[in-house]
Amino acid sequence: MAKLIYSMITSLDGYVADEHGEFDWAMPDEEVHRFVNDLQRPIGTYLLGRRMYEVMVYWEDATAFAGEPDFVRDFAAVWQAADKIVYSRTLERATSAKTRIKRAFDPETVRRLKAGTEHDMAVAGPELAAQALRAGLVDELQLLVAPVVIGGGKQALPDGVRLDLELRDERRFGSGMTYLRYGITGALRGDR
Ligand SMILES: NC(=O)c1ccc[n+]([C@@H]2O[C@H](COP(=O)([O-])OP(=O)(O)OC[C@H]3O[C@@H](n4cnc5c(N)ncnc54)[C@H](OP(=O)(O)O)[C@@H]3O)[C@@H](O)[C@H]2O)c1
Repeated sequence: MAKLIYSMITSLDGYVADEHGEFDWAMPDEEVHRFVNDLQRPIGTYLLGRRMYEVMVYWEDATAFAGEPDFVRDFAAVWQAADKIVYSRTLERATSAKTRIKRAFDPETVRRLKAGTEHDMAVAGPELAAQALRAGLVDELQLLVAPVVIGGGKQALPDGVRLDLELRDERRFGSGMTYLRYGITGALRGDR
């Protein structure tokens, strides 16, 4: 059975993008990039909200990274190797390979997919991830916390969700980013 992982780079105050949609402060340096590559490598299937898909599909062009450093080319290869399911009511066609579009998020379908899949899965995009968290489908949080406070914007974690967590791993990087890996051990008592 696959784990479903929600992995994000956030500000210390828990945002993935500021009020203008900017997240330049979240750009990983080489050390973090290499670490993220290894985190993402085992992922067999991404569940992507349409907005996150539109950011990530940048990595699809196999020729675009030819002159880039190895760790950048490596991430492109990791992205291209995985299956993608994009959730959208508006996207007419996907511009990446190995990609399906779903018009609705059905927790039962995702539960079955997890049960029948060997490789771990990741959910990306806070709006989509909120639905997976609320449905109790997410097994693990992987947060890379950037050393910034941005005061508002798009929250990584939704309001109204309360979870019991177990810290399973942590790491600090030269840039001041920190990595926190938490297992979700349950909803806080009385919440689900
Ligand atoms: N911190 C970082 O490193 C980083 C990296 C990349 C991106 N970002 C930021 O992350 C944010 C993207 O996250 P987001 O929360 O805005 O969006 P998201 O979850 O990626 O995508 C939301 C979209 O997914 C579709 N969707 C969601 N639920 C659905 C459902 N039940 N059925 C069908 N379609 C569904 C809808 O697409 P339609 O509108 O097409 O129906 C919805 O507008 C952006 O602000 C981006 O700039 C941050």
